[in-house]
Amino acid sequence: MGNILSSPVVVVGLYSVYPGEILGQGAFGTVYRAVKNDWARKQFAVKVITNPVAAAQEVENARKLSLVKHKNIVNILENHQIYGYPFIVMEYCEFGDLDDYFNNVNEPIDFVKKVNFMMQITQGLAFLHKSNIIHRDLKPNNVLIAKDNENPSKKVAKLSDFGLSKFCGPNQLVEIYGGYEWFKGPEYFLHKAGYYTQVLYGSEDVFSLGLTMLAMLQFKRGQKLKPVVENNPTNVEKTLPIGDVMVWRWGQGLDTNVLVDNEIHTEYGKQIQKMKLLISRAISFSPVDRPGAQDVYDALSNIAFHATSVKHQIFAST
Ligand SMILES: Nc1ncnc2c1ncn2[C@@H]1O[C@H](COP(=O)(O)OP(=O)(O)O)[C@@H](O)[C@H]1O
Ligand SMILES: [Mg+2]
Repeated sequence: MGNILSSPVVVVGLYSVYPGEILGQGAFGTVYRAVKNDWARKQFAVKVITNPVAAAQEVENARKLSLVKHKNIVNILENHQIYGYPFIVMEYCEFGDLDDYFNNVNEPIDFVKKVNFMMQITQGLAFLHKSNIIHRDLKPNNVLIAKDNENPSKKVAKLSDFGLSKFCGPNQLVEIYGGYEWFKGPEYFLHKAGYYTQVLYGSEDVFSLGLTMLAMLQFKRGQKLKPVVENNPTNVEKTLPIGDVMVWRWGQGLDTNVLVDNEIHTEYGKQIQKMKLLISRAISFSPVDRPGAQDVYDALSNIAFHATSVKHQIFAST
């Protein structure tokens, strides 16, 4: 990538890519800001895939995803090559990923806003699952935030980064594969320890969704969005630590009592209780006990409905 970094702008096809303007970096590649050189001069994001092992799969997944259009899925447009590396052109999400957004936004993110983002993420996931796509790497850094074109004062959340995604029929068993440990379910760690290699269709994503929701609830400014402090599942025979928020013990099940710091969003007490219950169902130890993404969405709609009326009461009394 040395020659990319040494020039201020690289023109590939109709796009001017700005190597100095890195939007983000992950295990598979680097994402740069780009501008399309037509009369609209619209901004785009290009992901240059530098990981040679991942490149072919990521490009093939991007090709399939480019046919899937949904407001809560990042729009993938085309692919090109840059100095021999494949790159994917996608819509530019000006607020970065969920982590960037939570940490950089000026106003506080209250419970109602959080639930709204959760609903959008869940809607994107439910749509993916209905389209027979499993994400397999759902986490805050793979959720992007853009301005809502239909309502510019609002933000829209979009699922992104389909490098590990799997396309398959419904109700299939799916191979467990990679991903970021903070948001992985127990099956991933059991798989690593040599126990089992497949999981029921989509249930792994629901676990990651539950942990993403938990991270959003627990969020404290200045800290990364994470549900866990560390993940070191060395002694899986006895305990299965999924961070320090929960420990699954053989024979005792999952301890989810410490799910949410009680000082967060105290005014929404009843809705927080419902949220805790929903999250603990989503992160059920056994994949078959987890709800589907659409069920999570329906439960979130109910919470949002009641939380909004709580919010109105709070404003009415001040
Ligand atoms: N379309 C985009 N608009 C704005 N920022 C983006 C966009 N795509 C990716 N990013 C940023 O780049 C980071 C890495 O991109 P990602 O596709 O997740 O790569 P990796 O597969 O290497 O994790 C994201 O977490 C996000 O911060
Ligand atoms: Mg990523």
